[in-house]
Amino acid sequence: MRDGHASRTAEHNALFRALESDLPEARRLFTDPFARAFLTWPFSLAARLGGLPGVRRVVPRLIDHRWPGVRSSVVARTRLIDDVILSSLGEHTEQLVILGAGFDSRAYRMPRLRDITVFEVDHPATQAAKRRALMRVLSDLPPHVRFVALDFNHQTLDSVMPAAGYRGSARTFILWEGVTNYLTEAAVDTTLRWCARSAPGSLVLFTYVHRDVLTNPGAYVGTQRLFATLARAREALTFRIDPSELPAFLATRGLALHSDVGAAEYRERYFKDAARTMRGHEFYRVALASVRARS
Ligand SMILES: C[S@@+](CC[C@H](N)C(=O)[O-])C[C@H]1O[C@@H](n2cnc3c(N)ncnc32)[C@H](O)[C@@H]1O
Repeated sequence: MRDGHASRTAEHNALFRALESDLPEARRLFTDPFARAFLTWPFSLAARLGGLPGVRRVVPRLIDHRWPGVRSSVVARTRLIDDVILSSLGEHTEQLVILGAGFDSRAYRMPRLRDITVFEVDHPATQAAKRRALMRVLSDLPPHVRFVALDFNHQTLDSVMPAAGYRGSARTFILWEGVTNYLTEAAVDTTLRWCARSAPGSLVLFTYVHRDVLTNPGAYVGTQRLFATLARAREALTFRIDPSELPAFLATRGLALHSDVGAAEYRERYFKDAARTMRGHEFYRVALASVRARS
């Protein structure tokens, strides 16, 4: 990330969510009424154009042309994660921890989350920008949300979560969306081990990139321009893993893998037939694991 600046990629995601929210209700996968509030120029302009009838279709098309697959992948995974979180709430989830929350607005837009404690953990620069934006749209920050500032590459969750009120004995849903690929392997390892110390049965949903995207980027559409954009944002891809190694990687850290789906598959789940023409970002994956009982 650029020193002292909020994450650029977090803003990209907020733009994609704002554009999706402007589609007619029958066509959109979700409504994120907060996404637009997080945008700065030029993303705020893009979102405003995307909201105008007549040019509404142009902005997403331009984005999809320049960075194939990224927008549709983020939109479909947003809906996928909403669905997984909602279905887990019936299973006595008491806390939601959002690691690298960025401009994730679930704590504010999903009414059922008001009944549990939500911890938003993020880099101090991104979190400060988010809090400023939220203060502009909400008169008060809601009491069920606790903000925890942390740099995964230099601090551990153990050192900050107890003081924020996190209870290690409570059934927890830990969401780590769009973050592991920007971290060191040591930070991913330490964080997953922290997740595995939460109450047995707790769920950990995280995203990661397929190892091949770094060893053989030419195999994926659009990586050249995407990598250049990420380099400018100082958010280049770092951590990656081969999906075939994920079950053992997680088991060593006390987690059991439940599902692991790539962008092509989760796009098809939500965009149906339209997904057939979507190309790019297939290396992006969403994994769901649970904390194993301790012997
Ligand atoms: C692509 S954004 C994802 C944001 C959000 N989870 C989403 O899916 O829209 C990456 C997030 O990781 C956070 N991040 C990146 N490196 C970090 C670090 N070393 N420590 C803490 N957070 C970090 C950024 O602040 C940003 O919020």
